[in-house]
Order: sequence, then C-alpha cells, then structure tokens
Amino acid sequence: MPDRAAAVRARRPAGPARERGRRRCSRRVAALAVLGATAAVLAAPAARARLAAARASLRRSSSPGASFYDLLAGRLLGGLYDQVARDAAAAVDGRETPEVLEIGPGPGDLAIRLASLVPGLRLTGLDLDPAMVAIAGRKAAEAGITGRVRFVEGDVASLPFADASFDLVLSTFSVHHWPDAAAGFAEVRRVLRPGGRAIVCDLPDCWGRIETGAPGLAVSARRGGFDTMAVTAVRWPGPVEVVRRAHLLRD
Ligand SMILES: C[S@@+](CC[C@H](N)C(=O)[O-])C[C@H]1O[C@@H](n2cnc3c(N)ncnc32)[C@H](O)[C@@H]1O
Repeated sequence: MPDRAAAVRARRPAGPARERGRRRCSRRVAALAVLGATAAVLAAPAARARLAAARASLRRSSSPGASFYDLLAGRLLGGLYDQVARDAAAAVDGRETPEVLEIGPGPGDLAIRLASLVPGLRLTGLDLDPAMVAIAGRKAAEAGITGRVRFVEGDVASLPFADASFDLVLSTFSVHHWPDAAAGFAEVRRVLRPGGRAIVCDLPDCWGRIETGAPGLAVSARRGGFDTMAVTAVRWPGPVEVVRRAHLLRD
C-alpha cells in the first residue's frame, strides 16, 4: 500500500515556493475584499435613491413605480375607465370642441378612451409624477391622438391654467393622495367654466383618511367651494360598491 501522505507531500512545492504561493493567494483575497467594499460603497447611494423613489411613488400612486402601475391598471381598471369615459362623454355632449382637464391621469388609459369616444375633444392630463407623464405621452402617441391629448407635469395644489378654462375636469383614484384635498378642489373649481362639471372617482373615504387625513370626497369638495354635487357608489368591479363617484357642478 503506497503511503498517500508521502505522495501528497511530494507533490507540494518546496519551502520558499510554497511561501510565495501563500503570499500570492492572500494578495488576491485582499484585492477581492477591496473590490467588494468599493462596489458596496458605490452602490449604496444608488440603492438609497431607488428606495426613496419607490417610497415617493407609493405616496403618489400606491405603487412602487409608474411602469408597475401601468401594468396593473391597464389590466384591472379597464371596466371602470369605460364607465367614466361614457359619463364624461355625456357630460360634454352638445359641445363641439370641449376642453377637458384630467388630474392625476397616471398612465393615461382613461384619457385615451375618452378621446376616442369624443373626436372633437381636447384633453390636458396633469400629473405630479414625471414618469407617469412620460408613459401617458408615449401611449397617446401610439394611439395617434397627440394633436388633441397632451400630458404635463404639475400639482393640483396650484394648477398652471387660467380661471374658467375647462368644460370638464376628471380625476380617478388620485384625490386620496392629495395632501390638501379641499385646496385641490378649490383649484378644480377655479379652472372650470361656470356650468362646467367635475367627475371624480375615488376609493372609500376611510382610505383618504388613512393616507392624508383628508375628510372624504364630499366634505373636501364642499370645502373647495362646490355646493352642488351628487355622490354615488359605483357598481364596479362587481356587486360590492368600493368606488365613490362625485358629480360636481360649477355654479
Ligand atoms: C393611483 S394613481 C391613479 C391614476 C389613474 N387616474 C387611474 O385611475 O389609474 C394616482 C395618480 O395621481 C397622481 N397624483 C398624486 N398626487 C397628485 C397631485 N397632488 N397633483 C397631481 N397629480 C397627483 C399620481 O402621480 C398618480 O399618477
């Protein structure tokens, strides 16, 4: 039986060569450790920035990012957008070139549906999130309606439009994200023409109370200056009425 330990010893490099090998090995380990530490230091701010962006997006739209929201909203909310688009079309019926403002259009699905229902309509979508504005703009271009539908970045708290410049204001699932919903409604009222309407859909009032402490759709709209309104529950997605819809009139 050959002595295996002796054979292994025979294959190992002799004293100085073994020492050199050990040093080379520890230099490689040290270099790898330095590389790893540098990568971690460089990646940390980027990871922190990504986390901050995701948190801001959750506050604005309850989703970690505009692309993610686009993917879900397109699949889940189509039936509701169809209902609201029909309501909106009825509200501007009889006007040849109605001017419509949508607040918080997100990826723009409702705007695109409405524009295809009412060929003369011109619509401006204003959203706080530049990533949503970019996605909505791209989808409007794909739908071939950029001449009539545009999306701009902005905050409902201070709308960059003259008084009385719109016939209709729309908003779905955005109000519960507005830090001061009553001030937002006051801005909506300011930009509506006398006789103009707003159609606003949102989650039940308790949702807004949790997110921003807002008192709810009807109370916020009244504090924003709307005296004439009808608030109803929407039958969507099924028999359970989880969405509230407010029809507001600018007297
Ligand atoms: C939950 S998403 C709803 C998007 C779309 N309306 C829908 O029904 O799918 C809320 C949208 O409101 C926008 N938003 C939130 N606060 C806003 C504000 N203060 N002014 C304008 N847009 C706002 C968000 O950026 C987001 O696109």
